[in-house]
Amino acid sequence: MQIYASTVASGDVVRAKMGGFLKSKNGILGQEFAGVVTEVGKKVTRFNKHDRVFGIVATGAHAEYLTVSEEAAVTKIPASVSFREAVCFCIGANPTLYFLEKLGNIRPGHQILIIGASGSVGTFAVQYAKYIGAEVTGVCSTKNIELVKELGANHVIDYNQEDFRESKKI
Ligand SMILES: NC(=O)c1ccc[n+]([C@@H]2O[C@H](COP(=O)([O-])OP(=O)(O)OC[C@H]3O[C@@H](n4cnc5c(N)ncnc54)[C@H](OP(=O)(O)O)[C@@H]3O)[C@@H](O)[C@H]2O)c1
Repeated sequence: MQIYASTVASGDVVRAKMGGFLKSKNGILGQEFAGVVTEVGKKVTRFNKHDRVFGIVATGAHAEYLTVSEEAAVTKIPASVSFREAVCFCIGANPTLYFLEKLGNIRPGHQILIIGASGSVGTFAVQYAKYIGAEVTGVCSTKNIELVKELGANHVIDYNQEDFRESKKI
């Protein structure tokens, strides 16, 4: 595929700081990608040439072109979503699904506290918890209170003003 958008995420920074360790063979960083399929293998059934796709790889998404298996973490971009919007989805959303769904087994009516509710992971966590039907309390700084409310949090705690451990909102 041809890469149209990528991100510099915390994982890339860690890899860059570690020098050669954990880099791909050609030394190209980049985990999140969004782009257009330029060629498909003979056995590929999920994708066609010209499909708009996004996903995540261990390294290499900062290249101009990337090859991934159709079984990899890659899927089509909905028509209403741009490359730039799609590309930053994976790293924030993946931990949300793992922690809330798999480890937390979140259910309607649960009460959940999301510390870092305005961040890359937290913004997905707030929306996902609301989607499931939980009562959500988000913790963030003053400048992001409105954002976290707009994402659906029932209560927001400003960590500059209040210690969530003593908050009556929880
Ligand atoms: N396991 C994984 O796969 C995975 C993947 C990604 C991230 N992570 C981890 O998840 C954590 C969050 O990552 P992220 O990418 O979402 O970070 P981020 O985008 O930098 O967001 C950080 C969040 O923490 C909030 N925050 C900052 N100082 C705080 C304080 N003193 N008290 C309470 N909240 C505070 C920020 O609020 P303001 O912006 O309003 O200040 C923001 O909501 C990190 O520890 C990261 O390493 C894990």
